[in-house]
Amino acid sequence: MAKTDPQEALRNRKAPIDMTPDEFRKTGYQVVDRIAEFLGSLSRRPVTPGESPEKIRALLGNGSIPLQGAAPDHLFKEAADLLFDHSLFNGHPRFWGYITASPSPVGMLGDLLAAAINPNVAAWVLSPMATEIEAQAIRWIAELIGYPVSCGGLMVSGGNMANFVGFLAGRTAKAPWNIREQGLGGGAQQPLVYVSKATHTWIEKAADLFGLGAKAIRWVETGADQQMSIEALEKQIAADRAGGYLPFMVVGAAGTVGVGAIDPLPEIAAICREQNLWFHVDGAYGAPAAALPEAPAGLRGLAAADSIALDPHKWLYNPLEAGCVLVRDPQALVNTFSFHPEYYNFDNTRGDQAALNYYEFGPQNSRGFRALKVWLGLRHVGKEGYIQMMREDIALAEELYKLVDSHTELQALTHNLSITTFRYIPSGLASGDPATEEYLNKLNLELLNRLQAGGEAFVSNAVIDGKYLLRACIVNFRTTLNDVEALPEIVVRLGRELDAQMRGEFLEVG
Ligand SMILES: Cc1ncc(COP(=O)(O)O)c(C=O)c1O
Repeated sequence: MAKTDPQEALRNRKAPIDMTPDEFRKTGYQVVDRIAEFLGSLSRRPVTPGESPEKIRALLGNGSIPLQGAAPDHLFKEAADLLFDHSLFNGHPRFWGYITASPSPVGMLGDLLAAAINPNVAAWVLSPMATEIEAQAIRWIAELIGYPVSCGGLMVSGGNMANFVGFLAGRTAKAPWNIREQGLGGGAQQPLVYVSKATHTWIEKAADLFGLGAKAIRWVETGADQQMSIEALEKQIAADRAGGYLPFMVVGAAGTVGVGAIDPLPEIAAICREQNLWFHVDGAYGAPAAALPEAPAGLRGLAAADSIALDPHKWLYNPLEAGCVLVRDPQALVNTFSFHPEYYNFDNTRGDQAALNYYEFGPQNSRGFRALKVWLGLRHVGKEGYIQMMREDIALAEELYKLVDSHTELQALTHNLSITTFRYIPSGLASGDPATEEYLNKLNLELLNRLQAGGEAFVSNAVIDGKYLLRACIVNFRTTLNDVEALPEIVVRLGRELDAQMRGEFLEVG
Protein backbone atom coordinates (compact mmCIF):
# COMPACT_ATOMS: atom_id res chain seq x y z
CA MET A 1 0.00 0.00 0.00
CA ALA A 2 1.39 3.38 -1.02
CA LYS A 3 2.18 5.55 1.98
CA THR A 4 0.66 9.00 2.03
CA ASP A 5 3.15 11.76 2.53
CA PRO A 6 2.19 13.42 5.85
CA GLN A 7 3.12 16.85 4.55
CA GLU A 8 1.03 16.27 1.46
CA ALA A 9 -1.89 15.10 3.65
CA LEU A 10 -1.61 18.31 5.67
CA ARG A 11 -1.40 20.37 2.50
CA ASN A 12 -4.62 18.81 1.15
CA ARG A 13 -6.19 18.50 4.53
CA LYS A 14 -9.68 16.96 4.58
CA ALA A 15 -11.16 17.49 8.03
CA PRO A 16 -13.91 14.94 8.73
CA ILE A 17 -16.05 17.68 10.30
CA ASP A 18 -16.14 19.91 7.24
CA MET A 19 -18.77 19.85 4.49
CA THR A 20 -18.51 21.11 0.95
CA PRO A 21 -20.89 23.95 0.11
CA ASP A 22 -22.94 21.47 -1.96
CA GLU A 23 -23.16 18.96 0.91
CA PHE A 24 -24.12 21.79 3.24
CA ARG A 25 -26.81 23.02 0.87
CA LYS A 26 -28.28 19.53 0.38
CA THR A 27 -28.40 18.68 4.08
CA GLY A 28 -29.49 22.20 4.99
CA TYR A 29 -32.43 22.12 2.58
CA GLN A 30 -33.49 18.75 4.00
CA VAL A 31 -33.36 20.08 7.55
CA VAL A 32 -35.28 23.22 6.66
CA ASP A 33 -37.91 21.12 4.83
CA ARG A 34 -38.36 18.92 7.89
CA ILE A 35 -38.71 21.95 10.15
CA ALA A 36 -41.24 23.57 7.82
CA GLU A 37 -43.33 20.34 7.81
CA PHE A 38 -43.05 20.19 11.59
CA LEU A 39 -44.25 23.76 11.99
CA GLY A 40 -47.18 23.06 9.67
CA SER A 41 -48.20 20.02 11.72
CA LEU A 42 -47.67 21.51 15.19
CA SER A 43 -51.29 22.10 16.11
CA ARG A 44 -52.25 18.52 15.14
CA ARG A 45 -49.59 17.01 17.37
CA PRO A 46 -49.90 16.40 21.11
CA VAL A 47 -48.20 19.11 23.16
CA THR A 48 -46.06 16.33 24.64
CA PRO A 49 -45.95 12.55 24.23
CA GLY A 50 -45.71 12.34 28.04
CA GLU A 51 -43.19 9.47 27.88
CA SER A 52 -41.10 8.10 30.71
CA PRO A 53 -37.34 8.69 31.12
CA GLU A 54 -36.83 4.92 30.61
CA LYS A 55 -38.54 5.04 27.26
CA ILE A 56 -36.59 8.05 26.04
CA ARG A 57 -33.27 6.64 27.25
CA ALA A 58 -34.02 3.30 25.59
CA LEU A 59 -34.48 5.09 22.27
CA LEU A 60 -30.94 6.44 22.49
CA GLY A 61 -29.49 3.21 23.89
CA ASN A 62 -26.34 3.18 25.97
CA GLY A 63 -23.68 2.35 23.42
CA SER A 64 -20.20 3.87 23.49
CA ILE A 65 -19.13 6.94 21.58
CA PRO A 66 -19.07 6.17 17.84
CA LEU A 67 -15.55 5.45 16.63
CA GLN A 68 -16.28 6.53 13.11
CA GLY A 69 -18.61 9.20 11.93
CA ALA A 70 -21.77 9.00 9.83
CA ALA A 71 -23.23 11.02 6.96
CA PRO A 72 -24.88 14.28 8.15
CA ASP A 73 -28.10 13.80 6.14
CA HIS A 74 -28.64 10.44 7.86
CA LEU A 75 -27.87 11.99 11.26
CA PHE A 76 -30.23 14.92 10.76
CA LYS A 77 -33.04 12.62 9.64
CA GLU A 78 -32.58 10.51 12.76
CA ALA A 79 -32.24 13.53 15.07
CA ALA A 80 -35.33 15.17 13.56
CA ASP A 81 -37.35 11.94 14.01
CA LEU A 82 -36.23 11.62 17.62
CA LEU A 83 -37.00 15.24 18.42
CA PHE A 84 -40.27 15.61 16.52
CA ASP A 85 -41.70 12.40 17.97
CA HIS A 86 -40.45 12.64 21.55
CA SER A 87 -40.42 16.28 22.60
CA LEU A 88 -42.59 18.71 24.46
CA PHE A 89 -43.37 21.56 22.10
CA ASN A 90 -43.47 24.97 23.72
CA GLY A 91 -44.34 26.28 20.25
CA HIS A 92 -47.63 24.37 20.36
CA PRO A 93 -50.72 26.63 20.45
CA ARG A 94 -51.83 24.92 23.69
CA PHE A 95 -48.58 25.26 25.61
CA TRP A 96 -49.07 27.66 28.50
CA GLY A 97 -46.65 26.33 31.11
CA TYR A 98 -44.14 28.32 33.15
CA ILE A 99 -43.01 31.31 31.09
CA THR A 100 -41.64 29.90 27.88
CA ALA A 101 -42.64 31.42 24.59
CA SER A 102 -43.49 29.93 21.25
CA PRO A 103 -40.26 30.54 19.35
CA SER A 104 -40.54 32.78 16.30
CA PRO A 105 -39.57 31.24 12.95
CA VAL A 106 -37.41 34.27 12.20
CA GLY A 107 -35.58 33.65 15.46
CA MET A 108 -34.92 30.02 14.45
CA LEU A 109 -33.32 31.13 11.20
CA GLY A 110 -31.50 33.94 13.01
CA ASP A 111 -29.74 31.41 15.24
CA LEU A 112 -28.62 29.49 12.16
CA LEU A 113 -27.22 32.61 10.52
CA ALA A 114 -25.54 33.67 13.77
CA ALA A 115 -23.86 30.27 14.04
CA ALA A 116 -22.66 30.47 10.45
CA ILE A 117 -20.75 33.69 11.11
CA ASN A 118 -19.95 32.65 14.69
CA PRO A 119 -18.74 36.08 15.79
CA ASN A 120 -17.24 36.24 19.25
CA VAL A 121 -19.21 39.19 20.62
CA ALA A 122 -16.71 39.70 23.42
CA ALA A 123 -14.70 42.28 21.52
CA TRP A 124 -15.53 44.73 18.77
CA VAL A 125 -12.56 43.71 16.68
CA LEU A 126 -13.74 40.08 16.69
CA SER A 127 -17.34 40.95 15.84
CA PRO A 128 -17.66 44.43 14.33
CA MET A 129 -21.13 44.08 12.81
CA ALA A 130 -22.44 41.71 15.48
CA THR A 131 -21.39 44.07 18.30
CA GLU A 132 -23.15 47.00 16.68
CA ILE A 133 -26.27 44.89 16.01
CA GLU A 134 -26.33 43.91 19.69
CA ALA A 135 -25.93 47.56 20.72
CA GLN A 136 -28.79 48.56 18.43
CA ALA A 137 -30.99 45.75 19.77
CA ILE A 138 -30.30 46.95 23.32
CA ARG A 139 -31.24 50.53 22.40
CA TRP A 140 -34.43 49.34 20.67
CA ILE A 141 -35.48 47.22 23.64
CA ALA A 142 -34.94 50.22 25.92
CA GLU A 143 -36.98 52.39 23.55
CA LEU A 144 -39.72 49.74 23.38
CA ILE A 145 -40.27 49.81 27.13
CA GLY A 146 -39.69 53.53 27.72
CA TYR A 147 -36.22 53.26 29.27
CA PRO A 148 -33.47 55.78 28.42
CA VAL A 149 -31.75 54.70 25.20
CA SER A 150 -28.50 56.01 26.63
CA CYS A 151 -28.47 53.00 28.95
CA GLY A 152 -25.92 50.21 28.83
CA GLY A 153 -26.87 46.59 28.54
CA LEU A 154 -26.18 43.29 26.93
CA MET A 155 -27.64 39.96 26.00
CA VAL A 156 -27.21 37.07 28.39
CA SER A 157 -28.57 33.54 28.60
CA GLY A 158 -31.84 34.33 30.37
CA GLY A 159 -33.61 35.90 33.30
CA ASN A 160 -31.38 34.47 35.99
CA MET A 161 -28.24 35.84 34.36
CA ALA A 162 -29.85 39.19 33.55
CA ASN A 163 -30.91 39.58 37.18
CA PHE A 164 -27.44 38.51 38.37
CA VAL A 165 -25.85 41.25 36.27
CA GLY A 166 -28.19 43.90 37.73
CA PHE A 167 -27.58 42.52 41.21
CA LEU A 168 -23.80 42.67 40.83
CA ALA A 169 -23.87 46.15 39.31
CA GLY A 170 -25.95 47.34 42.27
CA ARG A 171 -23.68 45.62 44.78
CA THR A 172 -20.56 47.23 43.33
CA ALA A 173 -22.18 50.66 43.01
CA LYS A 174 -23.63 50.80 46.50
CA ALA A 175 -20.92 49.17 48.62
CA PRO A 176 -19.21 51.99 50.52
CA TRP A 177 -15.87 50.18 50.17
CA ASN A 178 -14.10 48.76 47.10
CA ILE A 179 -15.92 45.46 46.99
CA ARG A 180 -14.11 44.28 43.87
CA GLU A 181 -10.77 44.49 45.64
CA GLN A 182 -11.70 43.70 49.19
CA GLY A 183 -14.68 41.43 48.72
CA LEU A 184 -17.54 41.30 51.15
CA GLY A 185 -15.16 41.13 54.09
CA GLY A 186 -13.91 44.65 53.28
CA GLY A 187 -16.81 46.27 55.11
CA ALA A 188 -18.11 45.89 58.63
CA GLN A 189 -21.77 45.90 57.65
CA GLN A 190 -23.81 43.10 56.12
CA PRO A 191 -25.35 44.27 52.81
CA LEU A 192 -29.08 43.52 52.47
CA VAL A 193 -31.40 43.21 49.48
CA TYR A 194 -35.18 43.70 49.68
CA VAL A 195 -37.52 41.62 47.53
CA SER A 196 -41.16 40.68 47.71
CA LYS A 197 -42.15 37.21 48.87
CA ALA A 198 -43.26 36.47 45.32
CA THR A 199 -39.78 36.98 43.83
CA HIS A 200 -38.37 34.31 41.54
CA THR A 201 -35.73 31.97 42.94
CA TRP A 202 -32.91 33.77 41.07
CA ILE A 203 -32.46 35.99 44.13
CA GLU A 204 -31.58 33.00 46.29
CA LYS A 205 -28.97 31.88 43.78
CA ALA A 206 -27.58 35.42 43.56
CA ALA A 207 -27.30 35.88 47.34
CA ASP A 208 -25.62 32.50 47.61
CA LEU A 209 -23.33 32.63 44.56
CA PHE A 210 -22.13 36.17 45.15
CA GLY A 211 -21.25 35.60 48.76
CA LEU A 212 -23.97 37.50 50.64
CA GLY A 213 -25.74 34.40 51.86
CA ALA A 214 -29.47 33.71 52.00
CA LYS A 215 -29.86 35.74 55.22
CA ALA A 216 -29.04 38.88 53.24
CA ILE A 217 -32.45 38.61 51.56
CA ARG A 218 -35.29 40.47 53.24
CA TRP A 219 -38.53 38.89 52.03
CA VAL A 220 -41.05 41.74 52.18
CA GLU A 221 -44.73 40.98 52.75
CA THR A 222 -47.13 41.10 49.83
CA GLY A 223 -50.78 42.09 49.92
CA ALA A 224 -53.66 39.95 48.65
CA ASP A 225 -52.77 41.17 45.15
CA GLN A 226 -49.28 39.63 45.53
CA GLN A 227 -47.68 43.09 45.28
CA MET A 228 -44.93 44.19 47.62
CA SER A 229 -46.24 46.14 50.61
CA ILE A 230 -44.57 49.55 50.60
CA GLU A 231 -45.31 50.03 54.27
CA ALA A 232 -43.62 46.74 55.13
CA LEU A 233 -40.64 47.66 52.92
CA GLU A 234 -40.13 51.01 54.63
CA LYS A 235 -40.44 49.50 58.09
CA GLN A 236 -37.96 46.75 57.31
CA ILE A 237 -35.38 49.16 55.88
CA ALA A 238 -35.68 51.43 58.92
CA ALA A 239 -35.33 48.49 61.32
CA ASP A 240 -32.28 47.19 59.45
CA ARG A 241 -30.57 50.58 59.42
CA ALA A 242 -31.19 50.85 63.16
CA GLY A 243 -29.71 47.37 63.54
CA GLY A 244 -26.44 48.37 61.80
CA TYR A 245 -27.07 46.59 58.51
CA LEU A 246 -26.36 48.01 55.06
CA PRO A 247 -29.46 48.05 52.84
CA PHE A 248 -28.20 48.36 49.23
CA MET A 249 -30.88 47.21 46.81
CA VAL A 250 -34.62 46.81 46.32
CA VAL A 251 -35.94 44.48 43.63
CA GLY A 252 -39.32 45.31 42.16
CA ALA A 253 -41.21 42.79 40.05
CA ALA A 254 -42.63 43.73 36.68
CA GLY A 255 -44.69 40.55 36.47
CA THR A 256 -44.07 37.94 39.17
CA VAL A 257 -43.40 34.39 38.07
CA GLY A 258 -46.46 33.08 39.91
CA VAL A 259 -49.37 35.31 39.01
CA GLY A 260 -47.80 38.13 36.96
CA ALA A 261 -48.22 40.73 39.74
CA ILE A 262 -46.58 44.11 39.27
CA ASP A 263 -45.02 45.67 42.35
CA PRO A 264 -45.68 49.39 42.98
CA LEU A 265 -42.62 50.40 40.98
CA PRO A 266 -42.98 54.23 41.21
CA GLU A 267 -43.23 54.03 45.02
CA ILE A 268 -40.23 51.69 45.22
CA ALA A 269 -38.28 54.05 42.96
CA ALA A 270 -39.04 56.96 45.31
CA ILE A 271 -37.85 55.00 48.35
CA CYS A 272 -34.66 53.99 46.55
CA ARG A 273 -33.97 57.61 45.58
CA GLU A 274 -34.54 58.81 49.13
CA GLN A 275 -32.48 56.07 50.71
CA ASN A 276 -29.70 55.87 48.13
CA LEU A 277 -30.51 52.24 47.24
CA TRP A 278 -30.09 50.54 43.89
CA PHE A 279 -33.48 49.95 42.24
CA HIS A 280 -33.49 46.78 40.19
CA VAL A 281 -36.58 45.64 38.29
CA ASP A 282 -37.08 41.98 37.51
CA GLY A 283 -39.04 42.35 34.31
CA ALA A 284 -37.87 39.02 32.89
CA TYR A 285 -41.48 38.28 31.99
CA GLY A 286 -43.51 41.48 32.14
CA ALA A 287 -41.22 44.36 31.16
CA PRO A 288 -42.06 44.23 27.42
CA ALA A 289 -45.71 44.94 28.30
CA ALA A 290 -44.62 48.46 29.31
CA ALA A 291 -44.68 49.09 25.53
CA LEU A 292 -48.50 48.89 25.51
CA PRO A 293 -50.12 52.33 25.45
CA GLU A 294 -52.63 50.98 27.99
CA ALA A 295 -49.88 49.66 30.34
CA PRO A 296 -50.62 50.57 33.96
CA ALA A 297 -48.60 53.45 35.46
CA GLY A 298 -47.22 50.96 37.99
CA LEU A 299 -45.53 49.04 35.21
CA ARG A 300 -44.27 52.17 33.46
CA GLY A 301 -42.49 52.93 36.73
CA LEU A 302 -39.73 50.63 35.51
CA ALA A 303 -38.37 53.65 33.64
CA ALA A 304 -36.92 54.86 36.96
CA ALA A 305 -34.93 51.68 37.60
CA ASP A 306 -31.15 51.55 37.85
CA SER A 307 -31.25 48.18 36.13
CA ILE A 308 -33.84 45.97 34.45
CA ALA A 309 -33.82 42.28 33.57
CA LEU A 310 -35.97 41.38 30.56
CA ASP A 311 -36.13 38.12 28.63
CA PRO A 312 -36.47 38.20 24.85
CA HIS A 313 -37.01 34.43 25.13
CA LYS A 314 -40.20 35.09 27.07
CA TRP A 315 -42.50 37.82 25.79
CA LEU A 316 -40.48 38.80 22.73
CA TYR A 317 -41.01 35.22 21.45
CA ASN A 318 -37.37 34.41 20.76
CA PRO A 319 -36.04 30.86 20.79
CA LEU A 320 -34.04 29.97 23.91
CA GLU A 321 -31.67 31.38 24.98
CA ALA A 322 -32.02 35.15 25.05
CA GLY A 323 -32.01 37.25 28.18
CA CYS A 324 -31.20 40.93 28.35
CA VAL A 325 -30.16 43.37 31.04
CA LEU A 326 -30.39 47.14 30.80
CA VAL A 327 -28.46 49.43 33.16
CA ARG A 328 -29.19 53.14 33.31
CA ASP A 329 -25.52 54.13 33.64
CA PRO A 330 -23.37 52.06 31.24
CA GLN A 331 -20.32 52.89 33.35
CA ALA A 332 -21.87 50.88 36.22
CA LEU A 333 -21.36 47.72 34.14
CA VAL A 334 -17.76 48.57 33.31
CA ASN A 335 -17.14 49.37 36.98
CA THR A 336 -18.48 45.93 37.87
CA PHE A 337 -17.01 43.67 35.21
CA SER A 338 -14.02 45.23 33.46
CA PHE A 339 -10.49 43.88 33.68
CA HIS A 340 -7.70 44.44 31.18
CA PRO A 341 -5.53 41.38 30.76
CA GLU A 342 -2.32 41.91 28.80
CA TYR A 343 -3.17 39.17 26.30
CA TYR A 344 -6.07 41.17 24.86
CA ASN A 345 -5.49 43.75 22.17
CA PHE A 346 -9.05 44.99 21.97
CA ASP A 347 -8.62 48.74 22.37
CA ASN A 348 -7.10 49.36 18.95
CA THR A 349 -9.86 51.60 17.72
CA ARG A 350 -10.00 52.44 14.04
CA GLY A 351 -11.50 55.88 13.94
CA ASP A 352 -12.58 58.41 16.51
CA GLN A 353 -15.09 56.36 18.47
CA ALA A 354 -14.03 53.92 21.15
CA ALA A 355 -14.77 50.29 20.36
CA LEU A 356 -17.47 48.60 22.41
CA ASN A 357 -16.02 45.45 23.97
CA TYR A 358 -18.84 43.46 25.55
CA TYR A 359 -16.54 41.27 27.66
CA GLU A 360 -16.12 44.37 29.86
CA PHE A 361 -19.88 44.73 30.39
CA GLY A 362 -20.82 41.35 31.79
CA PRO A 363 -19.63 38.10 33.32
CA GLN A 364 -19.05 36.20 30.08
CA ASN A 365 -15.83 36.22 28.14
CA SER A 366 -16.47 34.53 24.77
CA ARG A 367 -20.01 35.44 23.80
CA GLY A 368 -22.29 34.13 21.07
CA PHE A 369 -24.47 36.24 18.83
CA ARG A 370 -27.79 35.91 20.69
CA ALA A 371 -28.62 39.45 19.66
CA LEU A 372 -29.16 38.58 16.00
CA LYS A 373 -32.45 36.73 16.49
CA VAL A 374 -33.66 39.43 18.87
CA TRP A 375 -32.74 42.21 16.43
CA LEU A 376 -34.32 40.34 13.50
CA GLY A 377 -37.50 39.85 15.54
CA LEU A 378 -37.71 43.55 16.37
CA ARG A 379 -37.27 44.39 12.69
CA HIS A 380 -39.63 41.65 11.48
CA VAL A 381 -42.69 42.76 13.44
CA GLY A 382 -41.71 46.17 14.77
CA LYS A 383 -43.03 47.81 17.91
CA GLU A 384 -46.58 47.61 16.57
CA GLY A 385 -46.32 43.89 15.90
CA TYR A 386 -45.12 43.23 19.44
CA ILE A 387 -47.83 45.41 20.92
CA GLN A 388 -50.47 43.53 18.93
CA MET A 389 -49.19 40.09 20.00
CA MET A 390 -48.83 40.97 23.68
CA ARG A 391 -52.23 42.63 23.69
CA GLU A 392 -53.79 39.52 22.20
CA ASP A 393 -52.03 37.24 24.72
CA ILE A 394 -53.41 39.42 27.52
CA ALA A 395 -56.91 39.38 25.99
CA LEU A 396 -56.79 35.58 25.69
CA ALA A 397 -55.74 35.22 29.34
CA GLU A 398 -58.68 37.47 30.25
CA GLU A 399 -61.04 35.35 28.14
CA LEU A 400 -59.77 32.30 29.97
CA TYR A 401 -60.43 33.97 33.30
CA LYS A 402 -64.03 34.72 32.26
CA LEU A 403 -64.60 31.19 30.97
CA VAL A 404 -63.29 29.66 34.17
CA ASP A 405 -65.15 32.13 36.32
CA SER A 406 -68.45 31.24 34.72
CA HIS A 407 -67.93 27.48 35.07
CA THR A 408 -69.59 25.89 38.09
CA GLU A 409 -66.76 23.39 38.65
CA LEU A 410 -63.91 25.85 38.25
CA GLN A 411 -62.79 28.70 40.46
CA ALA A 412 -60.99 31.64 38.87
CA LEU A 413 -58.41 33.21 41.16
CA THR A 414 -56.27 35.79 39.35
CA HIS A 415 -55.65 37.46 36.03
CA ASN A 416 -52.60 39.72 35.59
CA LEU A 417 -50.84 40.45 32.30
CA SER A 418 -51.13 37.16 30.38
CA ILE A 419 -51.36 34.84 33.40
CA THR A 420 -54.62 33.36 34.68
CA THR A 421 -54.85 31.09 37.71
CA PHE A 422 -57.74 28.83 38.67
CA ARG A 423 -58.55 25.49 40.21
CA TYR A 424 -60.94 22.62 39.85
CA ILE A 425 -63.58 22.24 42.57
CA PRO A 426 -65.85 19.21 42.06
CA SER A 427 -69.54 19.94 42.28
CA GLY A 428 -70.95 19.23 45.71
CA LEU A 429 -67.74 20.29 47.47
CA ALA A 430 -67.67 23.63 49.22
CA SER A 431 -64.16 25.03 49.62
CA GLY A 432 -63.20 26.57 52.93
CA ASP A 433 -62.75 23.97 55.65
CA PRO A 434 -59.19 22.69 56.14
CA ALA A 435 -59.88 19.05 55.17
CA THR A 436 -61.58 20.09 51.95
CA GLU A 437 -58.80 22.55 51.15
CA GLU A 438 -56.21 19.85 51.69
CA TYR A 439 -58.13 17.53 49.41
CA LEU A 440 -58.51 20.23 46.74
CA ASN A 441 -54.76 20.81 46.80
CA LYS A 442 -54.07 17.11 46.30
CA LEU A 443 -56.71 16.86 43.61
CA ASN A 444 -55.41 19.87 41.67
CA LEU A 445 -51.80 18.68 41.95
CA GLU A 446 -52.79 15.29 40.53
CA LEU A 447 -54.88 17.03 37.89
CA LEU A 448 -51.85 19.07 36.88
CA ASN A 449 -49.77 15.89 36.56
CA ARG A 450 -52.43 14.33 34.32
CA LEU A 451 -52.73 17.48 32.23
CA GLN A 452 -48.99 17.83 31.80
CA ALA A 453 -48.55 14.22 30.70
CA GLY A 454 -51.74 14.03 28.65
CA GLY A 455 -50.64 16.19 25.71
CA GLU A 456 -54.00 17.96 25.20
CA ALA A 457 -52.85 21.22 26.78
CA PHE A 458 -49.99 22.17 29.09
CA VAL A 459 -50.31 24.49 32.08
CA SER A 460 -48.21 24.78 35.23
CA ASN A 461 -49.04 25.74 38.81
CA ALA A 462 -48.98 28.55 41.34
CA VAL A 463 -49.55 28.40 45.08
CA ILE A 464 -51.35 31.34 46.65
CA ASP A 465 -52.35 31.53 50.31
CA GLY A 466 -51.85 27.79 50.58
CA LYS A 467 -54.10 27.04 47.59
CA TYR A 468 -52.66 24.88 44.83
CA LEU A 469 -53.70 26.46 41.54
CA LEU A 470 -53.50 25.69 37.86
CA ARG A 471 -51.80 28.49 35.98
CA ALA A 472 -51.91 29.35 32.29
CA CYS A 473 -49.31 31.84 31.07
CA ILE A 474 -49.93 32.80 27.46
CA VAL A 475 -46.74 34.05 25.83
CA ASN A 476 -47.75 32.27 22.68
CA PHE A 477 -48.55 33.96 19.37
CA ARG A 478 -50.02 30.68 18.08
CA THR A 479 -52.76 30.44 20.71
CA THR A 480 -56.25 31.32 19.49
CA LEU A 481 -59.56 31.76 21.25
CA ASN A 482 -60.50 28.21 20.16
CA ASP A 483 -57.50 26.86 22.07
CA VAL A 484 -58.39 28.81 25.18
CA GLU A 485 -62.04 27.76 24.98
CA ALA A 486 -60.99 24.10 24.87
CA LEU A 487 -59.16 24.27 28.22
CA PRO A 488 -62.06 24.32 30.73
CA GLU A 489 -63.62 21.21 29.19
CA ILE A 490 -60.29 19.33 29.29
CA VAL A 491 -59.66 20.33 32.92
CA VAL A 492 -63.19 19.45 34.07
CA ARG A 493 -63.18 16.07 32.27
CA LEU A 494 -59.87 15.05 33.87
CA GLY A 495 -60.93 16.58 37.19
CA ARG A 496 -64.12 14.52 37.33
CA GLU A 497 -62.24 11.30 36.54
CA LEU A 498 -59.72 11.99 39.27
CA ASP A 499 -62.30 13.07 41.82
CA ALA A 500 -64.15 9.81 41.27
CA GLN A 501 -60.91 7.94 42.06
CA MET A 502 -59.56 10.11 44.86
CA ARG A 503 -62.36 11.58 46.94
CA GLY A 504 -63.22 8.47 48.94
CA GLU A 505 -59.59 8.01 49.92
CA PHE A 506 -59.10 11.56 51.19
CA LEU A 507 -62.49 12.78 52.39
CA GLU A 508 -65.26 11.13 54.32
CA VAL A 509 -68.01 10.67 51.79
CA GLY A 510 -70.97 12.32 53.44
C1 LIG B 1 -39.93 36.98 36.98
C2 LIG B 1 -38.86 36.03 36.55
N1 LIG B 1 -37.57 36.28 36.83
C3 LIG B 1 -36.59 35.46 36.45
C4 LIG B 1 -36.85 34.30 35.77
C5 LIG B 1 -35.73 33.40 35.35
O1 LIG B 1 -35.60 33.43 33.95
P1 LIG B 1 -34.80 32.33 33.16
O2 LIG B 1 -35.54 31.06 33.37
O3 LIG B 1 -34.79 32.80 31.75
O4 LIG B 1 -33.42 32.28 33.75
C6 LIG B 1 -38.17 33.97 35.47
C7 LIG B 1 -38.52 32.74 34.77
O5 LIG B 1 -39.64 32.40 34.58
C8 LIG B 1 -39.21 34.87 35.85
O6 LIG B 1 -40.49 34.63 35.58
